[in-house]
Amino acid sequence: MLRDLKTRLAGAAAVTVVTGAGISADSGIPTFRGNDGLWNKYRPEELASPEAFARDPRLVWTWYNWRRELIAAKQPNPAHHALVELERRVNTFRIITQNVDGFHSLAGSQSVSEIHGNIWKVRCTQCGRVAANRDVPIAVPPCCAVCRGLLRPHIVWFGESLDPGELRQSHDALRDCEVLLIIGTSGVVYPAASFGAVAKARGAFVAELNRDPTPQSDLVDAAIHGAAKDLVPELLD
Ligand code: OAD
Repeated sequence: MLRDLKTRLAGAAAVTVVTGAGISADSGIPTFRGNDGLWNKYRPEELASPEAFARDPRLVWTWYNWRRELIAAKQPNPAHHALVELERRVNTFRIITQNVDGFHSLAGSQSVSEIHGNIWKVRCTQCGRVAANRDVPIAVPPCCAVCRGLLRPHIVWFGESLDPGELRQSHDALRDCEVLLIIGTSGVVYPAASFGAVAKARGAFVAELNRDPTPQSDLVDAAIHGAAKDLVPELLD
């Protein structure tokens, strides 16, 4: 199956990659679901929702500060680096990531849609300004340098809509690709969970690379199981 996927990748002029927390798991960043997942220990509605932030911005920022500390201490792994190389080899290439750690760009990928936002950006709840912010630790809660309004993480929380521009770019990339790789996502959070079906309906060859089977495994053309840090570099051999 891996051999078939490699042949298809080698002949493809347009490749799109969808990534989730599993690709950063090999960097030491915890995933969300599963036994060791963050959502097994914490309740997302208490930490990653607009209601939680309205109720207790300090608590929400304390959680994001903890995640910032965790991510700042880690590095992209061979799977992220292999995607940088894949981008060099393919004419039209795009990564659509649900991850907020910024590791794809840190590794050197150029064409990245961060559809759930980025933990290293903040947005003012008053004036709406989005700014880069790499403070670790960050003041809890932080305030806007321009209007002194309360800042929030520039992350899409439960119950919020994705940025329409990012979504449009993602759909263009799904429509145009010949091969779609879905790497390290449990495939339960929409709209990313639908991306495999969208690309397949457009005629793309869809492959899932994941440590475990997912609800998408039976729908894709190839489901390959293993650690992303091993599987993704293998695609380039
Ligand atoms: P999940 O935690 O739901 O799923 C991670 C997937 O990665 C699972 O299918 C694991 O089996 C797989 N996995 C774990 N380790 C792996 C490894 N070393 N190599 C390959 N695969 C591995 O994460 P996501 O699907 O990304 O949203 O979750 C989607 C969204 O739900 C996240 O973006 C986040 C969360 O709530 C927000 O924070 C807005």
